[in-house]
Amino acid sequence: MAQLVYEYDELLADHDYAEPHIVAGRRLHGGFLADGTYQPPRTLVREPALAAWEEALRERGGEPFAANANLLDGVRFPTIPQQLALLRHGLDQPFWNTLTFVAKIEAKGAFLSMLPVPDLSAAIAEDISEMAIGHLDRGLLDAHGLDEGGNPALGIGGHDEMWFVARDLVYGPDAHPDVEPDDNIAREDSTRHLPEIGREIEEFFSFLANLLVIEFRAEIGFAETQTILRSPDVFTDRRAEAETAAEIVERIRTDERIHVRSLNLYLGELRHLHLRTNDGGQVPGHVLIDRFWNGLVHWATVEQPRLVAADTRQRMYERIARESDGKAIRAAFDAAA
Ligand SMILES: [Fe+2]
Ligand SMILES: [Fe+2]
Repeated sequence: MAQLVYEYDELLADHDYAEPHIVAGRRLHGGFLADGTYQPPRTLVREPALAAWEEALRERGGEPFAANANLLDGVRFPTIPQQLALLRHGLDQPFWNTLTFVAKIEAKGAFLSMLPVPDLSAAIAEDISEMAIGHLDRGLLDAHGLDEGGNPALGIGGHDEMWFVARDLVYGPDAHPDVEPDDNIAREDSTRHLPEIGREIEEFFSFLANLLVIEFRAEIGFAETQTILRSPDVFTDRRAEAETAAEIVERIRTDERIHVRSLNLYLGELRHLHLRTNDGGQVPGHVLIDRFWNGLVHWATVEQPRLVAADTRQRMYERIARESDGKAIRAAFDAAA
C-alpha cells in the first residue's frame, strides 16, 4: 500500500543534487542529477506522492481532470512569424517586454504560499486526509508558490528570476525601460456560479481552475518563446546566449508540468467527491467543477482572447509607428500574419 499521508517537510524536500542550478552567477532552484538531467525543485517526495494519489483516485473509480493546453490553441497575437519579423527589423523591445511581463507574472505566483485554504474537510462529505487536496495547506501550495516566486530568503531564484536571467543573457542588462504587466490573466467576476455551496469554497474552486488555465497559457507561450529564441536569424550576435536562454525556459516548462499535473489531480479528486450544500444536502463534485470549468473555458477561449488581442494589436501598431522605418516594419509585420 503506497503512502498517502505526508508531512509538510517531506513534500518540500529536494533531491540530493549532484550539481546546483547556477546560470550567469545566479543561484536558481532545482539542480542536476548525476547523469546531468535537470531535476525540478521540491520533487523528491512530491512527485511520487502525486503518483500515489493519482493511483488511489483511479482505484476509487475516478481520474485526474482530463483538461490540457490544447483547449487554448487558438491563434495568438502577435504570431511567431510576426514576432520574428519585428526582431529581424531591429525592433526588439516588444519581445523584451514580453519576457519581462512573464517574469513578473511568475513572481506573483509566490502568493500561493500565503493563500488561506478554506476548511475543505468541513465542506466535503468524504474524508480527504489521504488525498492531494488534504495536503494543499500541508506543503503542496507552498511548494507551488516557491517554484513560481523563488525563495529570496535563501537567495534561490524561482521562475521569475529564471526569466530575468534568460532575458538578460539574450539582451544584456538594462536593455530597455522596465515595464509592468496588465492584470488580466485571471477572470475577475463576483457572479456566483455555484450558489449551492459556500462562497469561500466556490472562490477556492475558482482559484484552482483559473490557475490551471494560466498554467496552460504558460505552456503555449513558453513553447513559442523557445521557438523565437532558437530561430537562427535573430539575436545573431548572441546565439550561444539565446540557446542557453531557451534551455532555461525548457527547465521552467519541466517544472510547470508538475503544476498542471497537480491541478488536474486536485480537480479530479474534487470531481469524485461530494460537497455539502448550504441547505444541508450534498452535490457531486463533478456537477460543480464541470459547470464552473465550462464557464471559465468559454471566457478563456472566446472572451478574454478577443479583449487582449484588440488591446495588444493597438499598442503594437503604435509602437511600430514610432520607429523611423515604421512603414516598412508595419508592412513586414502584417505580411507575416
Ligand atoms: Fe511558473
Ligand atoms: Fe506554474
